[in-house]
Amino acid sequence: MKKLVIFASGSGSNFQAIIDAIARNELEAQIAGLITNRDETGAAGRAISNNIPVTVIKDSDPVMLNEKLEAQLSAWNPDLIILAGFLNKIPDKIVRKYHGRIINIHPSLLPKYGGKGFYGMKVHQAVLNSGDKITGCTVHYVNDEYDKGDIIEQSHVEIHPTDTAEKLAARVLKAEHQLLPRVIKKLLT
Ligand code: GRF
Repeated sequence: MKKLVIFASGSGSNFQAIIDAIARNELEAQIAGLITNRDETGAAGRAISNNIPVTVIKDSDPVMLNEKLEAQLSAWNPDLIILAGFLNKIPDKIVRKYHGRIINIHPSLLPKYGGKGFYGMKVHQAVLNSGDKITGCTVHYVNDEYDKGDIIEQSHVEIHPTDTAEKLAARVLKAEHQLLPRVIKKLLT
């Protein structure tokens, strides 16, 4: 059975989409654990409710942080690492070690509206301000630059004239919940 490790520090709805896809037998995989960098996240609550091991890893010293993350990843030995709402940058050493096995989901059609500072509602507000008619979400490989790794797959979402950033965010998030498990399945098979 292929093993996944999820990094999430938000509400964890994408993490939940992975849990649900496994429960529905649409995805043949096991979630070895969740890594979060904040106490009491929605994501951690979902891990606990689903009996998935969860660990909070944070350290202001980058060397220590890298060591702690590497130790946990070695223990869980994942086939694929999924960043699903994890704002912090993954240390370069880990990106190199797991090259081609770390993916991220981003709520825009990259390369548009990506990079440092483009997260959460800021992305959707920028999309609305631009006058674009279409937005969406992207799953991409993680490299050493924010949101710059090779794109694996995208989903498109129409922008309605009455959209607010919140309304758009909700529709994009729904598309994310479809896209992420589908891409994971593709990469594991
Ligand atoms: C998603 O919009 C994802 O694209 C971004 O962070 C958000 C996480 O949402 N990277 P959730 O915690 O999965 O609900």
